[in-house]
Amino acid sequence: MLPGSFHDRWDALYANPRAVTASFGVAFLACEAENISPVKMTTQSLRALKGQRPIVCVTAYDTPTAHCADLAGVDLILVGDSVGNNVLGFANTVSVTLDMIVHHAAAVSRAKPEALLVADLPFGDAHLKPGDVVKSCRRLIQEGGVEAVKIEGGAPLAPIIAHLVLAGIPVMGHIGLQPQQVNVMGGYRKFGARGNEAATLRADVAALENAGVFAIVVELTDPRLTAELTQLSRVPIIGIGSGPDCDGQILVAHDILGISVRAPSFAKAYANVDETMRTAFATYAGEVRNRTFPAVPNKPAASPPQ
Ligand code: KIV
Repeated sequence: MLPGSFHDRWDALYANPRAVTASFGVAFLACEAENISPVKMTTQSLRALKGQRPIVCVTAYDTPTAHCADLAGVDLILVGDSVGNNVLGFANTVSVTLDMIVHHAAAVSRAKPEALLVADLPFGDAHLKPGDVVKSCRRLIQEGGVEAVKIEGGAPLAPIIAHLVLAGIPVMGHIGLQPQQVNVMGGYRKFGARGNEAATLRADVAALENAGVFAIVVELTDPRLTAELTQLSRVPIIGIGSGPDCDGQILVAHDILGISVRAPSFAKAYANVDETMRTAFATYAGEVRNRTFPAVPNKPAASPPQ
């Protein structure tokens, strides 16, 4: 755990940038003790963690959440298109547009995380003409402030991914369950056990690696197959609902915090923020109604306001 509460750091950030630098010096020692990298994570340093230690990834969609996750020492923050179902009230990720991701990515990047900052390329954009895909990624990087993009899709997307990498756009792959395919699949399901899915996933990993991705998310995939993909792959395999034998894990922040509308069964809530928020709102409402908030000042003002 890094020293200093979120509020301490937040206040210091705006009041005294040098104090922030000093507190990061203390953080550096704490990080060393816990084997957490205190320096800016890059696609290269993240990739180098394969085989060294598990890689910690979370989503964030706003500045304070990103700030907290970063102070906790996560390695990668994803501005996921899961913003659609977790924040914007959509049923799935298909309704999320490039403008929406850019808006949330810009908020997250204002937290200036040490963690590597990645944003999802939203539904449909990876299938535009190559020049237009580059344009979408440029918006995520230049307006959203992220350092890399994540693209759902396997071997068929390898050519466009190679094109992006050549243009200087780092890409994270995403295979197994691809939530942007929900309307084609008619729902969400586990991958890896049906027909030739295992062979397809092995081929996906090889094609994405050759295209130049720096890491690959493997979602809701048979754990034994995911373990095999992790062994096969030269880049980190980041699992979600795919068992423990990966190079790292990613979870949606709202699931970790216990604030999601519908958490998947593989997720784990490490807090009950939903209950904390409901209690805070109810307590505030009660105090307004019984006139205990705002508190009556001890001394009357010298003269009434004009
Ligand atoms: O959008 C998202 O949150 C994701 C996951 C991998 C967590 O893509």
